[in-house]
Amino acid sequence: MHKATHRQLTQLANKLKHTHFSKEQSAEHSEKYSLRAGSIYLNYARNPINRQVFKTLLDLAKHSQLSEHIQALFDGEKINHSEDRAVKHWLLRAPLNSDDADSVAVHQVLDKMQALVERIENHTLLDKPVSDVICVGIGGSELGSRLVYEALTMGKPQKIRLHFVANIDGLAVADAMANCTPDTTLFLMISKTFTTFETTKNFTTLKHWFCAADNRSEADFWQRCCAITANVSGALAAGVPEPQIFAFWDWVGGRYSLWSAVGLPIAIACGMPAFRQLLAGANAMDEHFRTATFADNFPVILGLLHVWYGNYLHYPTRGVIPYAQNLKSLPDHLQQLEMESLGKSVHKNGEPLDFATCPVVWGSVGSNAQHAFFQLLHQGTQIVPLDFVAALEPCDGVMLAMEGALREHHKALLANCLAQSQSLMNGGDTGYHGHGKFAGNRPGNLILLDKITPHSLGQLIAAYEHKVFVQSVIWDINAFDQFGVELGKQMCHQILAETEGELDFAAIKKTFG
Ligand code: F6P
Repeated sequence: MHKATHRQLTQLANKLKHTHFSKEQSAEHSEKYSLRAGSIYLNYARNPINRQVFKTLLDLAKHSQLSEHIQALFDGEKINHSEDRAVKHWLLRAPLNSDDADSVAVHQVLDKMQALVERIENHTLLDKPVSDVICVGIGGSELGSRLVYEALTMGKPQKIRLHFVANIDGLAVADAMANCTPDTTLFLMISKTFTTFETTKNFTTLKHWFCAADNRSEADFWQRCCAITANVSGALAAGVPEPQIFAFWDWVGGRYSLWSAVGLPIAIACGMPAFRQLLAGANAMDEHFRTATFADNFPVILGLLHVWYGNYLHYPTRGVIPYAQNLKSLPDHLQQLEMESLGKSVHKNGEPLDFATCPVVWGSVGSNAQHAFFQLLHQGTQIVPLDFVAALEPCDGVMLAMEGALREHHKALLANCLAQSQSLMNGGDTGYHGHGKFAGNRPGNLILLDKITPHSLGQLIAAYEHKVFVQSVIWDINAFDQFGVELGKQMCHQILAETEGELDFAAIKKTFG
């Protein structure tokens, strides 16, 4: 990190240690520390910051050459040095540029997805209408598309049921099998590498299940499969017919891939127009990130605040609390996005770091979380800064029998969200002989979408992607590799080989000691 600015921020944090920021709360303060990017509003006034901190954080961005790094990202430079790859997930959501071969390829795949979705919708894909889609994929090949699928379908009647299978635990695939009929099921194998152990194992199990019913052949199985992968030759070799292979590319990281054909489950469940709206929303955030001044730039401000929390205020974890049942998987997606991207302890050149990088990111949906772990957040010994995510309006198309009931629920949901954010910062005293004391001064950002729509969701997820990038630039680390996942994978294969697949108690004792 830029040394002089780093020193200044350390001094500022020391000075602010004993300041109670609840006193700063006013409409004017909120106005100063808030911004709007499209249909998302960020209020970051409930934080231990003042004008000087804010200015110095912006200096840190400037001295870290953030502008130049943003330029390099959007110029398609090979900024993933360790893997010698460009990082172009933003191109997946950009309008067609017919002079750019990659952009042309992206839009060809989008058209291919559209053709498939239309065949599903007009019942010409299988000999019977598709009732279920089993989506097999893990990590970035599952979390993002599951998040968006839930966000856009929850509470609404569905023509097609989707089942996400990720875990190697046979229960995951069994659960899908128990709820599907082979004849009317479409199988998606979603894997960038097409070699991930969990995904190939689960897919093979599904193949056996399908073939066992009525003596169907493997060829029949592959006829009702689609592969979504950057390893097209691997998919062809497995037996997937070429028209059913949806490619993406090595310049798309797994956790940044929901905008590619990895998002096919979303397109099938919500329709292609909704998927294109999602892409348009993300593209709008790309443009905002590229062009807005840093002081008004959503991902830049959020990224700098998250740096401030970890490196200067030394908060070891950060919470994400969506006050939206349909965003219940947002913490899961952000865990991979942030912890796989930023959970590093070396600089880009491989030299060890001497400061903290990614905190543990965790969270759960509000208001449930209030009745589970908010006790610690209010009165525990650790301070956990929170991102509160909510929507001003309830979603369209949600079934709720009673007139006005959804609005009533929504009002109560929002009131809970605001109350928690206010009381964590302000503190208070509810009595109980000293047990009801709340120290307050516990920070939180309010991220408010006008409404959860494909477009605003695209903006939100892309904003988090870019705020991860901002942190990686400040810390000079590579946000696009993930070598840390390899060792455990290798050891798993070694254990399976050594124990010849039999892992009984005696074998566990022998292996584990
Ligand atoms: O093990 C981690 C990881 O490589 C993630 O980065 C990735 O999103 C996930 O596994 C799945 O990989 P694939 O899409 O190649 O199956």
